[in-house]
Amino acid sequence: MKPNRFFDAGSEAKFRSLVEKETTPFLAVDLNTIIKRYELMRKGFPNAAIHFAVKANPHDVVLAKLAELGSNFDVASVQELDKVLALGVDPSRISYGNTIKKEKDIRYSYEKGVRLYCSDSEMDIHNLARCAPGSEVFVRILVEGAETADWPLSRKFGCQPDLAIDLILMARELGLNATGFSFHVGSQQRDIGAWDAAIAKTKYITDRLAEHGVSISLLNLGGGFPATYNQKMHPFDRYAKGINRFLREDFGKKHPRLILEPGRFLVGDAGVLVSEVVLVSRKSRDDVNRWVYTDVGVFGGLIETLGESIKYRVVCDRNGAEDEEVVLAGPTCDSMDIMYQFNKYPLPLSLEVGDKIYWLSTGAYTYTYASVEFNGFPPLKTFVLE
Ligand SMILES: Cc1ncc(COP(=O)(O)O)c(C=O)c1O
Repeated sequence: MKPNRFFDAGSEAKFRSLVEKETTPFLAVDLNTIIKRYELMRKGFPNAAIHFAVKANPHDVVLAKLAELGSNFDVASVQELDKVLALGVDPSRISYGNTIKKEKDIRYSYEKGVRLYCSDSEMDIHNLARCAPGSEVFVRILVEGAETADWPLSRKFGCQPDLAIDLILMARELGLNATGFSFHVGSQQRDIGAWDAAIAKTKYITDRLAEHGVSISLLNLGGGFPATYNQKMHPFDRYAKGINRFLREDFGKKHPRLILEPGRFLVGDAGVLVSEVVLVSRKSRDDVNRWVYTDVGVFGGLIETLGESIKYRVVCDRNGAEDEEVVLAGPTCDSMDIMYQFNKYPLPLSLEVGDKIYWLSTGAYTYTYASVEFNGFPPLKTFVLE
């Protein structure tokens, strides 16, 4: 399929000039798309504080624009914290959402002014009480949704309701301001029902805590909102309407203060990764599948294609009369470096070495995931279209 246009007119001209002069592979990230996404999210959740999950795309220009728009930030490490602070963002706009953190990093973040933390274990609560005394803490709970999220985040993070209750009580005893809960329904979550079940779970814990005389005032709904890949999903406003309804149904009109931690939704659709064909081959004279090898692969920024989890939309410049489903693989000497073997992608039979292949909606979790020097290939070049 030949692309007509990737971005709106202004950005498209800048993108085309990059394609003319830059060697592939590279990622172009469109700031206008991010601005529109941010505004859409604001409109869908007018009463929620948006904390952009920095890990999704920590490019300085992206962070600076989001800061200017009024976004808050969720950081996973002190390195991300320093990046955000260096842009002049006040620490009161930053949450430390990683439940796995060193004691010295908690202390550092506290010294820098961070006062909002996520936790899901006894040990971490003790560390927080010692190194970030009096800070606000929310407890991450385990939720379902792995089957319907293309990049699940369950199992490793969060705790069950019984422990969540214990942690809130314990944190309060230790002098922390334990105010509520968070969850993450899984990244690229396409099923609205996943939020329904998760919100219901937080309501259940909220009620149990009320029996202990503890009132919950914060609910962090996490990320998970989908970008536009090859699988079916709803438009954003449908997710927003559904989630607002679940909140009303469970908590009534006076629900706790809300936080959202979007990553993929804000930046995913803003990116186009430009690559070119290195080689086209078949494995035997009569092989039914052609293999198309591109100069970007799993280790060059497309790591979320592992297990064919994230199914990017892929287009090329060549307009062939006839398409054939191909296997798409990367350039390294590693047999894991195959993006799509079972989900076949149709590309023109006339495809030639040097033809451009465009990977759409690659603005999230790509260039920072790219290896430093695997097989000698450099990290993925990234340009922001401003
Ligand atoms: C704590 C936390 N919050 C938010 C996000 C962003 O999730 P998403 O990109 O699905 O919106 C992540 C993603 O890993 C996360 O770990």
